[in-house]
Amino acid sequence: VSQQLRVAVIGVGAMGADHVARLSTRIRGACVAVVCDAAPDRARQIAAGVPEARVIDDPDAAVAAADVDAVLVASPGPAHEAQLLACLDHGKPVLCEKPLTTDVAAAARVLRREAETGRRLIQVGFMRRYDREYVELKQLLDAGELGAPLVMHCVHRNPSAPPHFDSTTIVDDSLVHEVDATRYLLGEEIRAVTMFRPTPNPRARASLQDPQFAVFETDSGRIVDVEVFVTSGVGYYVRTEVVGELGSATIGLDVGPVRVGAAGSQFGVLSPDYLARFGPAYDTEVQRWVDAVRRGSGVDEIAATAYDGYAAGAVCAAAVTSLRTGLRVPVALAAP
Ligand SMILES: NC(=O)c1ccc[n+]([C@@H]2O[C@H](COP(=O)([O-])OP(=O)(O)OC[C@H]3O[C@@H](n4cnc5c(N)ncnc54)[C@H](O)[C@@H]3O)[C@@H](O)[C@H]2O)c1
Repeated sequence: VSQQLRVAVIGVGAMGADHVARLSTRIRGACVAVVCDAAPDRARQIAAGVPEARVIDDPDAAVAAADVDAVLVASPGPAHEAQLLACLDHGKPVLCEKPLTTDVAAAARVLRREAETGRRLIQVGFMRRYDREYVELKQLLDAGELGAPLVMHCVHRNPSAPPHFDSTTIVDDSLVHEVDATRYLLGEEIRAVTMFRPTPNPRARASLQDPQFAVFETDSGRIVDVEVFVTSGVGYYVRTEVVGELGSATIGLDVGPVRVGAAGSQFGVLSPDYLARFGPAYDTEVQRWVDAVRRGSGVDEIAATAYDGYAAGAVCAAAVTSLRTGLRVPVALAAP
């Protein structure tokens, strides 16, 4: 690995373009060497803002390039498997945006191939692990300050959903964050999922089941409920409360300064989108990935691993089945 970690960013839509900006301005020790996107014009437009970057249209060639040390995958979920396998074949560390894949069999194939390399090369972009409030909540839990955690309540609201979102995408792309947060904060697996279908938002597209309500049961019998509401029309609002035997802790209230103005008084400011809410978390995530790769370990120690990505995918598959049948669905998980 050269002095600067030379990164290829594959997929430069909303998230990938944000990662290009982060890598080329705020992140120390890295540069964007290659930009790749299925839409060549988009790749050229993004690369134009980064003098040292060149465009390679073919993802395999971008991964294989001699001047690429590591890869950041931010293409849509269904494209991840092939791009991850290419990274593994070339022994290149990869930070892959969540979800690892959108299907469990594909995730298992990726996991198997990574094991064959004998190295950990894949880190999954569950950035909440790097958010200051999640970090503090995890510390509270690990220090035993809430006693035994018993129940967790989560709210995941977005102002609007991208046009390609359907009821399954809400599970795979949105609910998946709470799946990882549950496994990470509580330190155990989710053994079953039951999905409820509340009255759909009349303002949502017809056929879109939104909001959705999930109930997770963990291996030890804890219950986690999640309201996911991606067409809320309001702000980006992600809130988590853990209830323990000694008390509870809530993060994500977005209670900033109390503001008083002509419109009356207002508590805090709601984040408009995920880039605003989790911007610092993405910065920390990518900086720690770059540092870990430059040190020679393929992944950062607190990052979600390929197995975490696979396990989250298995929970989402159970959730999608439950969304269809209305039944409680056990999660089928192979051992790590
Ligand atoms: N961590 C987070 O909070 C977060 C937030 C948003 C998106 N994401 C993830 O980032 C990824 C991208 O999401 P987005 O919102 O940027 O989507 P997007 O639709 O805005 O961008 C996707 C880009 O990938 C390109 N593309 C499509 N197929 C490709 C392929 N096979 N190879 C290379 N490029 C391809 C498209 O042309 C587009 O430019 C998804 O996995 C998504 O779940 C994560």
